[in-house]
Amino acid sequence: MGRDVSMDSSSSKSYFFLFKICILAIGTCGAVRVMVPTEMILGTVGRPLLLPVNYTTGIKDQNTQITWTFQSQSSGSMLLVTAINNTLTPDMEHGHRFFLSPPSATLLINPVQLTDDGEYTIKVTVSGVKMESASRQLTVQVNVPVSKPVVHSDPAWGAVEYIDNATLTCTVSKGTKVIYQWLKDGKPLPESSRHIFSVDNKMLFISPVLKDDLSNYTCVAKNLISINESEPIAPNIYYGPYDLMVKSEPRFKISEGVFAVGKGEPVWFKCSANSNPPNDYSWFQKANNKTTPIHRGPILNIMSEKVPEKADYMCCVYNNVTGKRGETQFTLILSATVIKKEVYHRSPTDYIRAHQVSVEQEPSMDDYGIYEFVAVPEPAAFPQVPPDKLSTVYDIIRVPDIRTVYDVICQTPKTS
Ligand SMILES: *[C@@H]1O[C@H](CO)[C@@H](O)[C@H](O)[C@H]1NC(C)=O
Ligand SMILES: *[C@@H]1O[C@H](CO)[C@@H](O)[C@H](O)[C@H]1NC(C)=O
Ligand SMILES: *[C@@H]1O[C@H](CO)[C@@H](O)[C@H](O)[C@H]1NC(C)=O
Ligand SMILES: *[C@@H]1O[C@H](CO)[C@@H](O)[C@H](O)[C@H]1NC(C)=O
Ligand SMILES: *[C@@H]1O[C@H](CO)[C@@H](O)[C@H](O)[C@H]1NC(C)=O
Ligand SMILES: *[C@@H]1O[C@H](CO)[C@@H](O)[C@H](O)[C@H]1NC(C)=O
Ligand SMILES: *[C@@H]1O[C@H](CO)[C@@H](O)[C@H](O)[C@H]1NC(C)=O
Repeated sequence: MGRDVSMDSSSSKSYFFLFKICILAIGTCGAVRVMVPTEMILGTVGRPLLLPVNYTTGIKDQNTQITWTFQSQSSGSMLLVTAINNTLTPDMEHGHRFFLSPPSATLLINPVQLTDDGEYTIKVTVSGVKMESASRQLTVQVNVPVSKPVVHSDPAWGAVEYIDNATLTCTVSKGTKVIYQWLKDGKPLPESSRHIFSVDNKMLFISPVLKDDLSNYTCVAKNLISINESEPIAPNIYYGPYDLMVKSEPRFKISEGVFAVGKGEPVWFKCSANSNPPNDYSWFQKANNKTTPIHRGPILNIMSEKVPEKADYMCCVYNNVTGKRGETQFTLILSATVIKKEVYHRSPTDYIRAHQVSVEQEPSMDDYGIYEFVAVPEPAAFPQVPPDKLSTVYDIIRVPDIRTVYDVICQTPKTS
């Protein structure tokens, strides 16, 4: 069709007529169509990049021209490559990196460079009976993949909670159009009054630091073609002392802050507090109105034959970086070891009587005797725990769910 129509000026009327028919019956007349799968194409520097294109012309036996042009703000508009029928005419300047294999219109850029960022136009022109063309635009964005980010913490030596500020800075040695994100223990860290990000998100300011900031921070750096994550970094934060407490063997503990131990029995106490750097521990004994330093270090060993019957002890902790201190006090009571055995053999009546002694307000003549200080179950629980079933005083103490109370056991001197 249209093969015999010559292209001289006298035929321009018939050419126009044919064109009108073509418009009325689009498709059948072979309109040129150019198709691209996507208008945005992402490239990686140094790698080949394909700009895929399909086209249809509908009409056979005619000249077909494929032309790629490039336009960017920095380099303006330029012709990259053109082909007529299957004959390629590479551009002298760009031909070594832009490849076309007609009849395919797909452009290969190899290797792609950052300067290849811009708009690409593919134009397909057919000329036979008439001239017809179609074009499409593609946007190319070329990036360098981001290298592994590195996080620096400032101050590097550490920051004191409530006083110092800290800055974490994320850097990448390679990568273009990088955006940054911060994770705290693997979760996105939201901005808050104490956590402020720089405009480009490369820096995280913590002002002031708290113990709570002691976490693993990770910087995620990404661009349109890659994502990379730093090693976690935990800034050194000086804090404490917190959660100060003294522990001993459970069997010695009779209530909060009170321990009882048989005379001559060795006993240890461990003082602990959460702090960075580790605390300095010192122990004091308070007896007979006097406070005496007795030991340094977290563990105190007491040889109970060498200490008063009843004394208060104090564990003092000091964090030499935060300058904060803490102290906790407890009472240690020595009970004669014989008591343990005597309780075992004591008759229920003795025991009950002893209990009554503690309850009665007015002591009677019968109550005279030597009193020892022990722990027994609270009165309500008492009848269910017959004393003759108990091996030692300490068993009573250890019975869970029974609140221990102080009571007195009367050891009436045996009348011989
Ligand atoms: C071109 O056509 C081929 C086969 O018809 C198809 O596989 C390919 O996805 C098409 N490409 C584009 C850019 O439309
Ligand atoms: C292009 O190809 C068509 C058909 O294959 C042919 O008729 C035409 O002469 C060719 N044009 C050139 C310039 O080689
Ligand atoms: C992160 O960057 C390093 C180089 O710094 C690279 O070897 C690694 O493959 C990258 N990881 C990812 C997931 O891209
Ligand atoms: C920490 O930052 C605050 C402002 O955010 C500033 O006022 C303060 O002086 C800083 N503290 C130190 C120790 O630099
Ligand atoms: C950071 O992560 C490591 C490994 O998972 C863990 O051992 C460490 O305790 C964490 N540090 C903090 C401060 O959470
Ligand atoms: C013991 O302490 C009391 C009250 O704190 C005080 O009045 C008294 O003088 C002190 N006794 C001695 C011997 O230090
Ligand atoms: C603080 O205490 C630590 C450990 O107890 C010790 O190693 C360090 O030398 C002390 N620093 C100062 C400044 O006293």
